[in-house]
Amino acid sequence: MKQLATITGLSLALAALSGCEADRISEKDFSLPEGNAMDGQEAFVYLHCYECHTIDGVELPPVLSDEPPYVELGGQVTQVKTYGQLVTSIINPSHKLAPGYPLETISEDGQSKMPLYNGYMTVQELIDIVSFLQPHYQVIVPQYHYRVYP
Ligand code: HEC
Repeated sequence: MKQLATITGLSLALAALSGCEADRISEKDFSLPEGNAMDGQEAFVYLHCYECHTIDGVELPPVLSDEPPYVELGGQVTQVKTYGQLVTSIINPSHKLAPGYPLETISEDGQSKMPLYNGYMTVQELIDIVSFLQPHYQVIVPQYHYRVYP
């Protein structure tokens, strides 16, 4: 009986712990202050993001490297690009690789080819870059074509 109580106690403790674990990695209440899109564009240039990225409708310096893993930012998307997604793409690029590209172009051994900026990009630069990028995503309603049978 005592053993049963110990096991029940243990499983309860484990359940509580796993609950805490889910809370610990929750993005709930994550909130960025307002950024400055113009400063963000400047940061995008001096951090050399343009070496691998173009943004539709934005004039950026010419690409220097021969074969950059070339990924377009902005453009049409079917779902709002949240700042949570953009921040994650920048500070944790391998978390979710950009869709629509051959894996060998954008990654190596499952890791994004995008360099990590976390050691030297300031938080303000991150916030401003997100404010700069976000309006360049245009949400469109996906068009479904149904075959009409006579
Ligand atoms: C050496 C090339 C390279 C540089 C420089 C680079 N990136 Fe990337 N970036 C990539 C690649 C490759 C991907 C696609 C794989 C991935 O999702 O991480 C990517 C993906 C992204 C995405 C997600 C795109 C999507 O559609 O999901 C964002 C946002 C982004 N980069 C922003 C930046 C910013 C901001 C900088 C500069 C601070 C930067 N990148 C610099 C290579 C680069």
